[in-house]
Amino acid sequence: MKKTIVSGIQPTGSINIGTYLGSIRNFVKTQVDYQDHHFFLFIADLHAITVPQEKQTLRKHIKELAAIYLACGLKKDNLSLFIQSEVKAHAEMNYLIQCFTYMGELERMTQYKDKAQKQTAGVTSSLFTYPALMAGDILLYDAEYVPVGDDQKQHLELTRDIATRMNNKLGNVFTVPKPLIPKVGARIMSLTDPTSKMSKSDPNIKSRIHLLDEENIVRKRIMSAITDSEGVIKYDRQNKPGLSNLIDMMSALTDQSPEAIAQSYQSANYKTFKEDLAEQVVNTLKPIQERYHSLINSDELDQILDDGKAFAEKIASRKIDKLHHKLGLGRKRK
Ligand code: TYM
Repeated sequence: MKKTIVSGIQPTGSINIGTYLGSIRNFVKTQVDYQDHHFFLFIADLHAITVPQEKQTLRKHIKELAAIYLACGLKKDNLSLFIQSEVKAHAEMNYLIQCFTYMGELERMTQYKDKAQKQTAGVTSSLFTYPALMAGDILLYDAEYVPVGDDQKQHLELTRDIATRMNNKLGNVFTVPKPLIPKVGARIMSLTDPTSKMSKSDPNIKSRIHLLDEENIVRKRIMSAITDSEGVIKYDRQNKPGLSNLIDMMSALTDQSPEAIAQSYQSANYKTFKEDLAEQVVNTLKPIQERYHSLINSDELDQILDDGKAFAEKIASRKIDKLHHKLGLGRKRK
């Protein structure tokens, strides 16, 4: 088996430019940089139901995300694209991983603390054990690399600890994975509140740009993004978080450093910079939207998901069998 790369995104809303710059753009790059690796990429629908979801909306977002992945430029070679819940080993692995995960470790997860606070109808135990499901996703396929945005770093560190612990106890059963976090774009902030992350679930729709938004919406959102009253273009995340977030977006979209962008707009005003950024975003999204519309209702998309499922299932079920054997579950194989 080739070396592997694993990643996933939750289908909890339409995909926004933050998720694109922090992860999908990096998936495309990673696929080019590591052509000898096999990429297991999935739609994390089991993760999505750790908080309440509406059935029809979830279904729509699952399919939408599958088409978005491909529309963003991922190649079908060396890629298994699948829906997490369709590969039953993920749910099973979650349980096995939980048997090696401590309460104290889960209690330290900052994302859990943030998300738990927002749950008005009560916090599910699956939200608490979520990092074990995620560790299982990664370890099932022996990922060498896991491309993610900055907010997943802590989950990756926990995955590495669990893998090492299980390797010590059971003999080398897993590859210990390494995160691949992009230098810029790993943490894109809300357009209306640059102190919080741009998020699929933010109730304020103006806080983000969706990959499928129409051109006039994209321009409007960027032109009205919060900046400051100083009027000077400078990259300073601490003191100018709004403007610096827009510079980060421009930087990630053009593969130039944030400092170089700030330098080249030194004598421009915010309006000119925002207009150029809006143009850049519109030009990036146009081909993605075209490919998306040709894929979303195609048989090709279903075929890719079927093939992805079949291959992922084969690899994942082998790993589950091996773990059962190592753990002494069931009967001894003859
Ligand atoms: P999720 O669905 O919250 O986000 C998907 C990916 O997008 C990145 N991201 C961002 N990057 C930059 N700026 C932002 N504003 C932004 N918002 C999101 C995230 O860091 C992430 O890489 N638990 C994961 C999904 C998952 C997973 C896995 C990932 C489940 N199993 C196994 C990797 C491997 C999550 O909730 O991502």
